[in-house]
Amino acid sequence: MDVFILKNEDECSEYAARMITDLVKSKPNAVLGLATGRTPIDTYARMVRIHNEEHVSFKDVKTFNLDEYYGIDESHPSSYHSFMQKHLFSKVDINQENVHVPSSKPQNVAEFCAWYENEIKKAGGIDIQLLGIGGNGHIGFNEPTSSLASRTRIKVLTEKTRTDNTFDFGTIEKVPMHAITMGIGTIMESRQIIIMAFGTKKADIVRQMIEGPVTALVPASVLQMHPSVKVIIDEDAASALERKEYYKWVFDNRPN
Ligand code: PGA
Repeated sequence: MDVFILKNEDECSEYAARMITDLVKSKPNAVLGLATGRTPIDTYARMVRIHNEEHVSFKDVKTFNLDEYYGIDESHPSSYHSFMQKHLFSKVDINQENVHVPSSKPQNVAEFCAWYENEIKKAGGIDIQLLGIGGNGHIGFNEPTSSLASRTRIKVLTEKTRTDNTFDFGTIEKVPMHAITMGIGTIMESRQIIIMAFGTKKADIVRQMIEGPVTALVPASVLQMHPSVKVIIDEDAASALERKEYYKWVFDNRPN
């Protein structure tokens, strides 16, 4: 794991946006794995700015989102379909046919999930996967005790996740109980992974992800097994790390 502790959220988002747009510059038909939640919003804003100012085109890019609430209307303002249109897809020149977000109401869930996995495979696999981390250590909606080898499927959302996401729906009762999510095994096949976290609220789970044991109780800890992960965090999210000074020293001396 490369642990990059940057000054603040702005620097983290700029770093992630640069990594993604640099990839698109060098590989115009790149396959991007995308995330929702509060964490990547500013990264998307910066990708839009770079698209406008530096004419980086998304026309041949393919995208696969991690997850979507199950049973919600895709036009619901808090669906992840709506989120992605609002923050990224409507603001760049992406071909809507190249955009994939799990269906919220598939006729047959198992068939849909197998189809989604196959679409990722047909696209050549994900070049770079952007992730946030849930307060309980989830990645995508792979809640604690998810199999570390899991594939795209339907999951029951924990009380913690539904509470954390209440702000989007008003009350916890309105937050869907289920979601369709890429599996941990699916995420681990991405060629590169960026995981971001900001603020003291994430400090303890970030410590568990980086410095704790690999365990299904903290799904993000499995990223210790991936050969190309960048953990991009602000000072607050890094505040509980035991070896913080070591990560900074490695960063300062990284080869170019
Ligand atoms: P957040 O969510 O970006 O809203 O903190 C992260 C996640 O649940 O994966």
